[in-house]
Amino acid sequence: MCGIVGYVGRTLDGTALDVVMEGLARLEYRGYDSAGVALVDGDHVETRKKSGKLANLTAELAAHPLPPSTTGIGHTRWATHGGPTDGNAHPHRGGKDGKLALIHNGIIENFHALKQGLLAAGVEFTSETDTEVVAHLLAASYDETHDLTDAMRSVVARLEGAFTLLVIHADQPGVVVGARRNSPLVVGLGEDANYLGSDVAAFIGHTRHAMELAQDQIVTITPDGATVINFDGTPAEGKAYEVTWDAAAAEKGGYATFMEKEINDQPHAVADTLLGRTDASGRLVLDELRISEEQLKAVDRITIVACGTAAYAGMTAKYAIEHWTRIPVEVALAHEFRYCDPIVNERTLVVSISQSGETMDTLMAVKHARDLGALTISICNTHGSTIPRESDAVLYTHAGPEIAVASTKAFLAQITASYILGLYLAQLRGGSFADDAQAVMKELAEVPGKIETLLGRMGRVKEIAKFMADTRSVLFLGRHVGYPVAMEGALKLKELAYIHAEGFAAGELKHGPIALIEPGQPVFVIVPSPTSEHGLHGKVVSNIQEIRARGARTLVIAEEGDESVVPFADEVISVPATSQLLAPLLTVVPLQVFALWLSTAKGLDVDQPRNLAKSVTVE
Ligand code: F6R
Repeated sequence: MCGIVGYVGRTLDGTALDVVMEGLARLEYRGYDSAGVALVDGDHVETRKKSGKLANLTAELAAHPLPPSTTGIGHTRWATHGGPTDGNAHPHRGGKDGKLALIHNGIIENFHALKQGLLAAGVEFTSETDTEVVAHLLAASYDETHDLTDAMRSVVARLEGAFTLLVIHADQPGVVVGARRNSPLVVGLGEDANYLGSDVAAFIGHTRHAMELAQDQIVTITPDGATVINFDGTPAEGKAYEVTWDAAAAEKGGYATFMEKEINDQPHAVADTLLGRTDASGRLVLDELRISEEQLKAVDRITIVACGTAAYAGMTAKYAIEHWTRIPVEVALAHEFRYCDPIVNERTLVVSISQSGETMDTLMAVKHARDLGALTISICNTHGSTIPRESDAVLYTHAGPEIAVASTKAFLAQITASYILGLYLAQLRGGSFADDAQAVMKELAEVPGKIETLLGRMGRVKEIAKFMADTRSVLFLGRHVGYPVAMEGALKLKELAYIHAEGFAAGELKHGPIALIEPGQPVFVIVPSPTSEHGLHGKVVSNIQEIRARGARTLVIAEEGDESVVPFADEVISVPATSQLLAPLLTVVPLQVFALWLSTAKGLDVDQPRNLAKSVTVE
């Protein structure tokens, strides 16, 4: 939530404005309520800011151009304190002399008390934001210290809440100072230029050398380098790393939208997440976990914490991990976890799942779990992000950058990684499924090819979506691992097409939701393979008949060759055969494609749906 960019260069080639605007374009997925930039211009700081999408700021800059500069910051906002107006857009100025500008991601929880103090001292405010309070505090502190880093250090000591802050001052050109607590900030190290960003996408067009910051640290960048200190002033070192993807991976690559590109990236997301996780004999090797085998063998309970799509990946994983390991697995929405007095101890493994690695609700759940003594593993797609840093271990998904706000390829990669973890635990524990781990890994290796085949058949789904542009409600039914897939299908439709959509466990239908069925009601049904255990297939086929008898329009996702559904289906969408637990990696794909094209048919913004932002860094 909120995208932040900072830049300092030695020369005016490739001016600060160009670099900052390019960074904002790549970060716009993090929030699009407003955008703004500030540059050092001689003895003062110039700002331009505009509510709405980045395009509005671009138009403002065309109308009122900014001069070349070596030092700049930029912000895309997801509004928290104060509505999405020009006045509330960042950057915010501090002091009366127009020399300091600040941008912020997060929430300053004690801003009200701090603001009262400033008002009493005669400070005038031009916005309703918590950020402006910090800008004035920094200006006052700079007037005493005459050093932006010192000013930042004294001010962060007074702040409560979560924040990333970037500040510039006209009296210190060639310097950007950043600070972070529970909110993302990474450093990009270039030649004669250095960068700050909410994530590496901010500067990936310029450098792949990056540096992680730890919690409660301040970084000062100049054209010569980056200096890190802790909030208490002690020197610190950032952890340098190379970004493994390039600028092309963060572009649309010929597709009309990032979401379409990311759906089509899914074979790679799964294949890359599987890569390097087995040895020559096919045994799973997860050295990267850096948790001893003894500790993992002692685990007697697993709790998965996540939100939204990532939580549906967790629900899918529960079926698989319990089946393979016989360890009880609970899935908790991260924002509920802390408040339900969770039963967690040192033999509990808490697995967080997060694409961004910055979701505040998930981060807080992980911290709470650690405080209770649990072992914590993060399944995460973003190197250097906060949740892996705060966990005992991390298993990265390798989906590459996910830029569309609605998650697609990360979901498949999350299921894949959590299955790898489940199989690894089964292998360690040596139970009856230990020998199956290699066979399942082999089957998983065939999934990318099957997704590719499936993507090649999505023409009819696109047509159905276009035809259904006026639909007001869609239901989704599934059983077993098809149940989280049904909920994920409904979530995609809600967030992308603003259509009422609900996912149900098909068996629950007769306990109430079947009353929703009226003639013409579209219902997607995810049918398990005819080879599924416990006669599940037959039960779902019966569910289809029950809703068809009441007039539902049935859109049936079934294994290819499954003729038993044909008499009861208005549409059959065939997916390649795979075993029951792996099926979600295929059955969700038509639902993603459906939501994409229905949203497109309605003329909506597929990549940046209303009210949302990627990476929810507030609670
Ligand atoms: C839905 C979606 C969200 C995220 C959720 C968690 O399409 O993207 O529901 O899955 O906000 O985000 P991460 O995975 O970054 O923790």
